[in-house]
Amino acid sequence: MHHIHLRDLDVSRIGLGAMGMSQAYTGAGTDEAESIRTVHRALELGVSFIDTAEIYGPYTNEELLGRALKGRRDQVVLATKFGLVSHEGDGPGNQDSSPANIRTAVEGSLARLGTDHIDLYYQHRVDPNVPIEETAGAVGELIAEGKVRAFGLSEAGPDTIRRANAVTPVSAVQSEYSLFTRDPEARVLPALRELGIGFVPFSPLGRGFLTGTIRSTEGFDKDDFRRDNPRFTGDNFQHNLRLADEVKEVAAEAGATPAQVAIAWLLAQGDDIAPIPGTKRVTRLEENAAADALRLTPTQLDRLTNLPPAAGATHTKAQMKMMER
Ligand SMILES: NC(=O)c1ccc[n+]([C@@H]2O[C@H](COP(=O)([O-])OP(=O)(O)OC[C@H]3O[C@@H](n4cnc5c(N)ncnc54)[C@H](OP(=O)(O)O)[C@@H]3O)[C@@H](O)[C@H]2O)c1
Repeated sequence: MHHIHLRDLDVSRIGLGAMGMSQAYTGAGTDEAESIRTVHRALELGVSFIDTAEIYGPYTNEELLGRALKGRRDQVVLATKFGLVSHEGDGPGNQDSSPANIRTAVEGSLARLGTDHIDLYYQHRVDPNVPIEETAGAVGELIAEGKVRAFGLSEAGPDTIRRANAVTPVSAVQSEYSLFTRDPEARVLPALRELGIGFVPFSPLGRGFLTGTIRSTEGFDKDDFRRDNPRFTGDNFQHNLRLADEVKEVAAEAGATPAQVAIAWLLAQGDDIAPIPGTKRVTRLEENAAADALRLTPTQLDRLTNLPPAAGATHTKAQMKMMER
């Protein structure tokens, strides 16, 4: 597995998103043993950059990783996130990136993860009620105390990134980026490159769509996040199926799977990019990790880069309000 740097932080260039082990997608939380096997297999294959957040569950995803990583903490670069649980206020689902809340949040995450330090600590969403300088200052203090090694932001726009970075150097920005979601290319990626900040694409498989395995949403669990996601509903779904089919065609030509092609395309966008495909199954983890060795030809990359845009917003209107673009 190749490694890259997110500023100074050395990470495997393919990571593992753990969210779906506990929430959001069909089957979440139903097979802890397989989730733990998936984490262990990831480490064996060198997929050592693992992503969670206190809001996943809430809390249960960090707890699961705490169990999975017992005795293996030094093999992993562990990333988690704060800011979507207001500990002093109305609890999970409420934004709070105030320094006092970050202090409470970090202690909870450390305890659940069973560690004395977090390698990469992201603000999950920019908090409109707290100046980013205060948030950055609070994380800077945690870095000085050794509780956190590196500071990250998620779905932040260039102005916020610059302001935060001026207070505490930002190592990585994590935002949605895939063949289906190209938004970061216009403003965020150029700013990151100017500032020497790494980029971590979340939902690199388009929440599973790009793998070509989703032909209908009928089998989804009732609480599957994708049921009311604009990309997965109505005419948008049919349009997006045609894009997924094109990825499938490139995959057939490349002798790879569509998931591997989607990851390899992201990896080809720069050596400052470390996608974190999410899965709770060993076989898919193995499949996704093998994308590290896949080199697409310039013609295949061009064909993928020139795919028409996906139809439908990446999130519902309410969710989009929390994202800077
Ligand atoms: N910062 C943020 O706001 C934010 C938002 C969303 C996600 N994230 C992070 O990013 C990570 C990845 O994103 P994501 O999980 O939303 O989406 P994703 O990685 O694009 O897709 C995950 C989905 O694809 C399926 N899948 C994975 N590998 C597959 C394969 N090889 N073939 C077929 N299906 C496959 C998974 O199902 P199975 O699990 O059943 O394999 C799951 O339903 C998350 O786990 C989370 O850590 C962060």
